[in-house]
Order: sequence, then C-alpha cells, then structure tokens
Amino acid sequence: MSHSLFLLPGDGIGTEIMAEVEKLIAHLNASGATDFVTDTGLVGGCAYDAHGAAISDADMEKALKADAVIFGAVGGPKWDNVPYDVRPEAGLLRLRKDLQLFANLRPAICYPALADASSLKKELVEGLDILIVRELTGGVYFGEPKEITDLGNGQKRAVDTQVYESYEIDRICRVAFDLAKTRGKLVHSSDKKNVMKSGVLWDEVARQAAKDYPDIRFEHILADNCAMQLVRNPKQFDVIVTDNLFGDILSDAAAMLTGSLGMLPSASLGAPDPQTGKRKALYEPVHGSAPDISGKGLANPIAMIASFAMALRYSFGMVELADKVEAAIAGVLDDGLRSADIMQDGCRQVNTAEMGDAIIARL
Ligand code: IPM
Ligand code: MG
Repeated sequence: MSHSLFLLPGDGIGTEIMAEVEKLIAHLNASGATDFVTDTGLVGGCAYDAHGAAISDADMEKALKADAVIFGAVGGPKWDNVPYDVRPEAGLLRLRKDLQLFANLRPAICYPALADASSLKKELVEGLDILIVRELTGGVYFGEPKEITDLGNGQKRAVDTQVYESYEIDRICRVAFDLAKTRGKLVHSSDKKNVMKSGVLWDEVARQAAKDYPDIRFEHILADNCAMQLVRNPKQFDVIVTDNLFGDILSDAAAMLTGSLGMLPSASLGAPDPQTGKRKALYEPVHGSAPDISGKGLANPIAMIASFAMALRYSFGMVELADKVEAAIAGVLDDGLRSADIMQDGCRQVNTAEMGDAIIARL
C-alpha cells in the first residue's frame, strides 16, 4: 500500500538533512520495503520569501492531506526582523495547531558509543532512555490574550496567557500512560502547582487519569525540581509528561544529556480518527536550523533520520523497519563515524551526506 509523505525541509540545515531522508526513502522504495509517495513544500523563512507567509495555504492543505509530514527546521538571522505573525516559527506553530498535534514525543536516548560525548559523567548517562511527552497545542504559547500594549506613559505591558482545560490535560496524560506501558511503567507528571492554577488543575486531572492505569507508577514533580533532577540523576526517569512551556525547556535539557542536540528526533501526533484510527502526525528533529553551519556539510543528519524512523513506527506501524533504521544509526556510531558536533578522539569525521550514506549502507 502506498503512503504519502509531505516533506517540509525549511531553512538552514533543514534542506541538507532532509536530503539524507530523501535518499533513505528512495532506498527503501527501491528495495520494495516501502511505497512512499513524496511531495515537498516550503515552510519558515523560505516560505516567507516566496509567499510572504511562514507557510502558504496550499502547503497547509497538503500537510492536512498527507499521511505524515516530515519537517526539517526553520528560521535564521535573515528573517529576524520580519513581522511577528509571519516569522519562520509561525509556520511550525500553525502546522501544530491546524493539524491538532497535541502530543509531542521527545525521546532522549544515549547511544552507547556517545556516552563520553555528554556534558555529564558517563556513568550518569550510559543507557539513558527517557521519553518526554510534551503538550503541544495549548498553554502559554497559544493562550489569549497574547499582546504588548503601550501604556502611554513611556511604559509597555506584555501579556501571555497560560491556559489549560481539563480535556487537554487528560488526553496528553493518557498518551503518556499508554506509552509507559510499553516501557518502564513509570510516569512523572511535571507542573508548577505550588504557584500556578494551571498547575493545580494539571495535577488534579493527571492523578484522576492515572487511576485508570493501575500498573503504572505515577509521580508528581515540580518543573524546576525536574530540571534539576534531569542533570543530577537522569536515569531515575522513564516518561515525563508536562505542558507546552515546561516541555520545551525540559526536552532541550534532556536532549543535551545524550551528547548532542543533533541526535534527537521527535514525533507530534494528533488524536486517532474515530473512523480510520489514523492519527495526523509530524516528525521533526528537536534541533533548529543552525544557520551558522548551514551549507557547509557539517550538519548531523541523525536526528532527522531518526525522526523518519519514528514516522515508520508511529504512523505506518513498520516497527521492524524502524528498529532497523535505529540499529543502523547505532551501528555507524559504533563504527566510529562522527559528524562535527559529536566528534571524539579516535573517530572519523564525516560530512552530512557521508553520514547519510553510511546509515543506508548499514541497512
Ligand atoms: C521546539 C522549538 C519551537 C518551540 C520553536 C521553534 C517555536 O523550540 O520545537 O522545541 O518553542 O516549540
Ligand atoms: Mg524548543
């Protein structure tokens, strides 16, 4: 059966790392393992240059129709001064909102070959396998009012609104509990209930939902303590479920434990369609567009390729193939191949395309 993928490489290194995924798709299609049909669109600064918007309506239509969206990265200094509504990030936020991708899965896995590349001691991160489940369509990134007003006395006032309704908390917690069943059966729910009403409600709803999962151990942790524990003793965690803002911050911290932001994939999923059971989904690396290294062949394509592996796993049920791609990534690292960001003594530095080729060769 053929599946449609809508590719949105974006800006900066986005195009370079997406080229490696395109090679991988071509390889899998040629081998008969898959039958992907791809189409490519513009998002971020390049979409602004072409259409004056961070994503065009036509490309939004394609994203809504595709079986999965594969997204690179957006932004760069060139677009620092474009109007706020059409800044590159607005394209990503519109995709998340319009596709209703409320569940963002961000695994932080430490590949054995990279335990030395972490900024933490090897024994703290060796074997690390955390999954951060971040709420992605609510909270302070989307709440209204969201504005800056001129007070007229030489002062201005900025407001962002942190807002959650119980259904939004309930559905993201259930995603976390369901995933924990397939892993370490432990969920930490993280909020700031000691100072925020949204945190009080978060905890109340999370605990209520937890009652339906008697085989899962439920722990509450304040978000600031969670940040501290992530760098103190990260292996105490299995699944962490949290809101949009805390999830953004905690997932960057968790990512760095693994050695490089260039290693980490993510999946953003919607609710299953009641008729077909299919979920809308977008897959993207956790890292950004890295304008400083773009065009130099220095970008690490692993997070992008691992994001594609998550698409195989979560959108297409191709679990064995996803395992194989992930094993190929671990394999090239074991072989001593490194992109610049994870370069270590005694290893061989390769460029973006060589890393992509090596992963395909390993397959
Ligand atoms: C992320 C990014 C985005 C976010 C930006 C690019 C809007 O930091 O995916 O973590 O804040 O969600
Ligand atoms: Mg972020």
